[in-house]
Amino acid sequence: MTPDLRVSFAGIELKNPVIAASGTFAYGVEFEDVVRLDRLGGFVVKGLSREPMIGNPPPRLYETAAGMLNAIGLQNIGARAFLEEKLPKLRAMKNVVVFANVFGYTREDYEYTVQILNEGEGIAAYELNLSCPNTQHGGIQFGSDPRTLDEVVTTVKRFAARPLIVKLSPNVTSIGQMAHVAQEAGADAISLVNTFIAMSIDIKTRKPRIANVSAGLSGPAIKPIAVRMVYEASKSVQIPVIGMGGISTAEDVIEFMLAGATAVEVGTASYWDPRATEKIAADVSRWCVEHEVARIDELTGAMQV
Ligand SMILES: Cc1cc2nc3c(=O)[nH]c(=O)nc-3n(C[C@H](O)[C@H](O)[C@H](O)COP(=O)(O)O)c2cc1C
Repeated sequence: MTPDLRVSFAGIELKNPVIAASGTFAYGVEFEDVVRLDRLGGFVVKGLSREPMIGNPPPRLYETAAGMLNAIGLQNIGARAFLEEKLPKLRAMKNVVVFANVFGYTREDYEYTVQILNEGEGIAAYELNLSCPNTQHGGIQFGSDPRTLDEVVTTVKRFAARPLIVKLSPNVTSIGQMAHVAQEAGADAISLVNTFIAMSIDIKTRKPRIANVSAGLSGPAIKPIAVRMVYEASKSVQIPVIGMGGISTAEDVIEFMLAGATAVEVGTASYWDPRATEKIAADVSRWCVEHEVARIDELTGAMQV
């Protein structure tokens, strides 16, 4: 039996549900010699902003029990350079699906960046990273306040020439409410979770492990919380949900799908094995054969209570 691994959301069909997550897969081209990119469902490029950004000073990464802290500070080459230097190479590849992750510090930043990206060909959809401080509203994350979430999604939806995936922050009290707000503001799909705000201290030096002091926690340590949030979010919306947070095996992919995910993203796993995404996609196929799952999309939301 050859299982049918195709999934679709927001009018985009993927050959399988495994997508490489933003910030852990550079701009895709850098992984070309390591991962057969056409074996993935797709990949999300590093978060893009209207201008290039150099990011935070080091140390910016620290390994924790079953996880990783990062405060890269959204270093990127900028939307314009992405169009000129990376997208032509991605366009030349056959059979790959590219998602552009977008962030900003004001509503206008998001609007402007999406308008730049609208000019490029070969992007399947935008994924809006809302785990950024809103400098016009006291620095609270866009994705942590229902009003600013609504504002930014409504604005971007007006300008976006492509489907919009709204990536939710897990640093909220009610993920169901935020998912619903994103849907009502026009999101075509939601993705979650981004990293959890966390920190660690070196008790010998009494200094923070990360120069930025606080950082985002990712990796297997967050997986059970992420599964719960994907479940709650999927119960609150009718639009498709893309799940992530600590996925490192095919079984993790299946678990997120049973919780309600249509597709998944794999992030931190690429740090300990750069080929993780491709391996997980192949293992998902094997898992379906072994468990006689003919169509993987039937697993979405199929948890039995
Ligand atoms: C080093 C690093 C950089 C990241 N950069 C971004 C980013 O630019 N935009 C974004 O939306 N998420 C970013 N993320 C979050 C991941 O895409 C993902 O949501 C999160 O790490 C949870 O998945 P994981 O546990 O599989 O890594 C980053 C994560 C890491 C570890």
